[in-house]
Amino acid sequence: MSIISKDIQKAVTILNNNDLVAIPTETVYGLAGNIFSEKAIKKIFKTKRRPFFNPLIVHISNIEYLQNIVSYIPEKAKLLATHFWPGSMTLVLPKHNSIPDLITAGKDTVAVRIPNHPKTIELLNTLDFPLAAPSANPFNNISPTKPEHVENYFRNDINMVLDGGHCKNGIESTIIGFEKDNPVIYRLGALSVEEIETVVGKITIRNKKENNPNAPGMLTKHYAPKTTTILADDIKTELKKHPNKKIGILVFSEPISINTIEEIVLSKTRNFKEAAANLYAAMHTLDQLNLDIIIAERFPNINLGKSINDRLQRATS
Ligand code: TXA
Ligand code: MG
Repeated sequence: MSIISKDIQKAVTILNNNDLVAIPTETVYGLAGNIFSEKAIKKIFKTKRRPFFNPLIVHISNIEYLQNIVSYIPEKAKLLATHFWPGSMTLVLPKHNSIPDLITAGKDTVAVRIPNHPKTIELLNTLDFPLAAPSANPFNNISPTKPEHVENYFRNDINMVLDGGHCKNGIESTIIGFEKDNPVIYRLGALSVEEIETVVGKITIRNKKENNPNAPGMLTKHYAPKTTTILADDIKTELKKHPNKKIGILVFSEPISINTIEEIVLSKTRNFKEAAANLYAAMHTLDQLNLDIIIAERFPNINLGKSINDRLQRATS
C-alpha cells in the first residue's frame, strides 16, 4: 500500500506520537519530526543516515513565533523575514535556550524558515510544536520534489508522505547567516542572490565548505545521482569524448535531439525558475534509466542559474 496520503489529521497523529512524516514544501520534501522530541529527531538522523554534525532546519508557520526559536534578530534579518517569508529562505540566527542541541549539532545558532506551502502551513498551525525537517532523501542522494521520490527512498522507514504535489521551486532554500549583523549567503538556493540584494544590498556569498566553518553541511559532493554525472560547458564537445556509451543529457533550453540519447530539456522558454523546478525530477528520471553517464549543461551564472550550477557542481564532483 502507498504511504502517500492527503490526510493532515493522520500526519498530526503520527507527529504527536514522536514519529516522522515527510512534508511538502515549495522547495523540496522534508523529513519532519517534533523539534522537542528526542526520539523523533534521532529517527530523522538514523533514517537519512545523516551525520550528527550536520544540523537541521526548524520550520515554523508565522513570524511572531520566531522569538521562541532565536534569541536575537538583527535588523536586516527582520527585513529579510518580512520580505521573503513564507518562502525559500532559511535564516541562521543565535538560538533560543529551548532549542535542543541535537537540532543544532551543538552550535549556538539555529536555522529556521517559514515554508510557502499551504498544506504544511495548515499542518504546522494544527501542531503544538515546530517541525525539524531536512530534505527527505538519504544522505548524499538527490532531494525529492515529488511524493513518489520520497516513497521510493523511505517506504520501509516511515508511515506517511503528506501529499502536496510537485514542489514548485524544486531546489532547496537559500541559507543566510549573519556576521556582525550583516547577511552572508551560506547556501545558494531557490531565492536568487539578485532578489535578496534588492532588499539588503550587496551580499557576500560563502557557499563553499572550505571557506565557511559556519556551514557544516556544505559538502563538496551532494545531491548526487548514482550514475556518473558530468558538468559540461558544451554538450556536443563532451558527447564526442564518450563514444559507445549509454548517455543521458540534461540541457537548459536547446535540445540536441540525437535519437540514441535520452534527453531532458529543463525549460524550453529559458526560464530559470522552471528549470530549477524541473532539475531534481529530471535527475531522478535519468538516474533510473541504467545509463553509463549523465551529462548536464552548465547554466549561465546569473540569477537561479547560479544556484542550479551549484547543485550540478555538487552532483558531479
Ligand atoms: O529547502 C530547504 O531548506 C529544505 C526544506 C525541507 O525546508 N531543507 C533542507 O534541509 O534542505 P537540509 O537538512 O537538507 O539542509 C539544511 C542545511 C544543511 O546544509 C545544514 O548544515 C544547514 O542547513 N544548517 C542547519 N543549521 C545550521 C546552522 N545552525 N548553521 C549553519 N548551517 C546550518
Ligand atoms: Mg539536504
